[in-house]
Amino acid sequence: MSTQRLPDHFMWGGAVSANQCEGAWNVGGKGISTADVAAAGQHGQGRTYTETVLENTYYPNHGAIDFYHRYKEDIALFAEMGFKCFRTSIHWTRIFPQGDESEPNEEGLAFYDRLFDECLKYGIEPVVTISHYETPLHLVKQYGSWTNRKLIDFYLNLCRVLFERYKTKVKYWMTFNEINVITLNPLIAAGIRVEEYADKEQILYQAAHYQFVASAKAVKLGREINPDFQIGMMMLYPLSYAESCSPEDNLENMHNMDLHYYFSDIQVRGYYSPKAQKFLERKGITLDITDEDVRDLRAGTVDYIGISYYMSLVTSSNPNRKIVVKGNMLEGIANPYLEKSDWEWQIDAVGLRISLNHLYDRYQLPIFVVENGLGAVDEKIEGQMIQDDYRIDYLRKHIAQMKEAVLQDGVDVMGYTVWGCIDLVSASTGEMKKRYGLIYVDRDDRGEGTLNREKKKSFNWYKEVILSNGDSLD
Ligand code: BG6
Repeated sequence: MSTQRLPDHFMWGGAVSANQCEGAWNVGGKGISTADVAAAGQHGQGRTYTETVLENTYYPNHGAIDFYHRYKEDIALFAEMGFKCFRTSIHWTRIFPQGDESEPNEEGLAFYDRLFDECLKYGIEPVVTISHYETPLHLVKQYGSWTNRKLIDFYLNLCRVLFERYKTKVKYWMTFNEINVITLNPLIAAGIRVEEYADKEQILYQAAHYQFVASAKAVKLGREINPDFQIGMMMLYPLSYAESCSPEDNLENMHNMDLHYYFSDIQVRGYYSPKAQKFLERKGITLDITDEDVRDLRAGTVDYIGISYYMSLVTSSNPNRKIVVKGNMLEGIANPYLEKSDWEWQIDAVGLRISLNHLYDRYQLPIFVVENGLGAVDEKIEGQMIQDDYRIDYLRKHIAQMKEAVLQDGVDVMGYTVWGCIDLVSASTGEMKKRYGLIYVDRDDRGEGTLNREKKKSFNWYKEVILSNGDSLD
């Protein structure tokens, strides 16, 4: 392998999730998911989740960007950019509207057949997240979602149906989006209304265990159905730096990162490490783990690690340090060396190189950067192309650092997909104004607009990046 170029098979592409782009929330027999009861938030604010779908409340995911009906046009644009792959997810409630049925909804399955066929027509490899921030609302109400062991079986029913149905169309899978977010935002990540429970940590770490088992069983099942499947885990990579060179700050930072390695260690290695066990012990958490769970975890370790990476944070051992900056799921101390996005996320391209090194040193598994991008306000002037140089700048710097990780440090990165390659609904705030896309969608925060698609300046830039296999970043 040349040390100067990315490998020829490098998977360039873009990423979205079903709930943030499909819309058609009640079309084709689809049931209601947690994303369908998430009302819009304000700039930088979290969203309110209602008990059920209320009248006179605006739910941005209901219509989203209507990808459900416009996917052909959108995939044609992705193909024009030269995408080698396209990451999306399955809306669980299109396949099992309630989540606990024994028979799937054929209309939902047929939609994803059409979608994957359209990708394959252009030679675009679908990369599929099985569960990305939407849980069937019925499972939430009836079973308490992932607090209940029964969810493992419901999830596996979904996996079995998907693996059987799409075994010749989809090779790359991820079991859960950002599995480490369950303790940070349990409702969005796992449909858990944690305020209902007294012992929150006990509940959340138990639910995480059920997800680990579900994921491991899915990996095992997938390999039985098609041994060529590549099934990965996916985590939000939470890079943080110690605020100073004091050993105390560095120890605190290590503990901070360990909260997240807890998740990847189990999914990559197949067992709870001594450190994880001590952590649970210290917290007074006792997990319901059966002997069969232990065997399943060992048998279902993942093939690769998918990460989202947007920003980095700073940790201090001093609890009085209060210069807080926030991402969508994490918060920390401001870093004076970094600039911030319109939503105050600290931009740190070198941090991506560091993150890839950390992960590869730890696991020696291929890493797939399945989310990276800039949420920004784009100024739309009628008749003119959006000049999103700030987005190009962000992507250029991050891709350059990813290349350094591969070419200088020897990290095995299998691909890179820009998050929100087409404008979509923000997961954390529900805004459309927070745009990530290389393709503009005419839709605003009140759900108004023609839904027309237009290329931004970044569209042509990324096309060149892919065409040159990452050589041309100017
Ligand atoms: C990740 C999620 O946390 O960040 C995506 O996997 C999300 O679903 C992305 O959209 C960007 O965050 P936000 O909150 O700006 O949409």
